Amino acid sequence: MQALEIIGENTLSGVINIGGAKNDIVSLMPAALLSDEACSIHNIPQIDDVNAILSIFTFLGVTYNRQEEQIVINNQSMENKPILENIAGKFRASYYFMGVLLTKFKSVEIALPGGCKIGSRPIDLHLKGFEALGAKIKYSKGQVNINAEELVGAEIYLDFPSVGATINIMFASVKASGKTIIDNAAREPEIVNVANFLIKMGAKISGAGTSTIIIEGVDYLRSATHEVIPDRIEAGTYLIMGALIGKELTINNIIPEHLNSLILKLQEIGAKLVINQDSITITAADYYKACDIYTAVYPGFPTDLQQPFLTLLTQCHGYAKIEENIYESRFQNATYLNEMGAKIKVEGHSAFVEGPSKLFGASVIATDLRAGACLVLAALIAKGTTIIIDIEHILRGYEKIVEKLSAVGANIKIIDYQG
Ligand code: EPZ
Repeated sequence: MQALEIIGENTLSGVINIGGAKNDIVSLMPAALLSDEACSIHNIPQIDDVNAILSIFTFLGVTYNRQEEQIVINNQSMENKPILENIAGKFRASYYFMGVLLTKFKSVEIALPGGCKIGSRPIDLHLKGFEALGAKIKYSKGQVNINAEELVGAEIYLDFPSVGATINIMFASVKASGKTIIDNAAREPEIVNVANFLIKMGAKISGAGTSTIIIEGVDYLRSATHEVIPDRIEAGTYLIMGALIGKELTINNIIPEHLNSLILKLQEIGAKLVINQDSITITAADYYKACDIYTAVYPGFPTDLQQPFLTLLTQCHGYAKIEENIYESRFQNATYLNEMGAKIKVEGHSAFVEGPSKLFGASVIATDLRAGACLVLAALIAKGTTIIIDIEHILRGYEKIVEKLSAVGANIKIIDYQG
């Protein structure tokens, strides 16, 4: 199997260019299927989740022309077929095909989505939204069947501001008859970007980015060209890396306001950041003061950055606490950080850290995408060599991570690992 081998303690300097956001592209590509014409998307990241979506496109007869970071998608020959577990189970975002196929064909048969094992991750809010629009739901052995005679606009309250459910309900209502209101909608930047893509096609959507989104159904959606926004989680991960071991490390092609909560937390512990219009330069400080982290929906501190931030907290002076308020079990990386010399205690939804601790290389496992990122950061500051296995999780969401980190001085490579 493949593994990452990292030899730590190299100072990292230079420029890292951030790619298109994983959690944006995974909704933009399905959104293109809602159009009645061909659509183009630019700034596509080279990550495995994009390949997973392309395999579903091929399976459904969607044709596309991908050149580097651009893709033209043509759904004229698209057909409706059951999307089984071997495809849908590969990643979480397969759930976006529910809203798309419901709008296109009024009938969907799809396996439950996969994704990082960081909690139960049900899709009940997605399905509740589809039912409110007139769909009937039937479950059978890990598959869900969704059928509707007609989709009719409705007012839908989300018990939790779910990112996926907000976007999926937009997909299912964009051509429904009448008005749909999503109350307690998620406000992430990726919601705004996919709404803007649909609006370019002629959809009538207002309020994206606020807690109340209004969609007036339309009959026809035309061709549109759109751009993937920079990956705020990739950017945040590398900013944390700069705080740990950077020297004039510049994270380029970002939207700083999407990282506001992280920037404020880095400044709270004593990090010095130079914030430019679309980049941030950071140099590791000699002393960091511990701080507490409470994950929350956007614009709160993102759950996807709490795992990388945990590595930084092991280097801060004093006691820190991370409270994970979005997922039930997102601290599996703590076990491996402790094997590298950290002092972390996990109790329920919280992790308690005593720092600073010197970290040492070890053989560790990437249990999920952002746990893998946490361990890469730990390996970069640890004394000696670290081997990280199950790196397919990491490659799903961090574009060209070996190339990008090597280019700023990291001693990192992919090896064949026999275990
Ligand atoms: C998206 O997941 C992201 N994934 C996640 O990123 C991210 O952590 C999450 O949003 C929150 O920001 C993609 O966009 C592909 P949610 P999603 O629906 O849509 C519960 C990463 O590392 N919930 O906002 O699944 C759910 O269990 C990944 O890049 C329900 O209870 O997130 C979770 O506890 C990890 N019922 C909470 O809401 C539902 O129907 C947040 O889920 C849906 C969700």
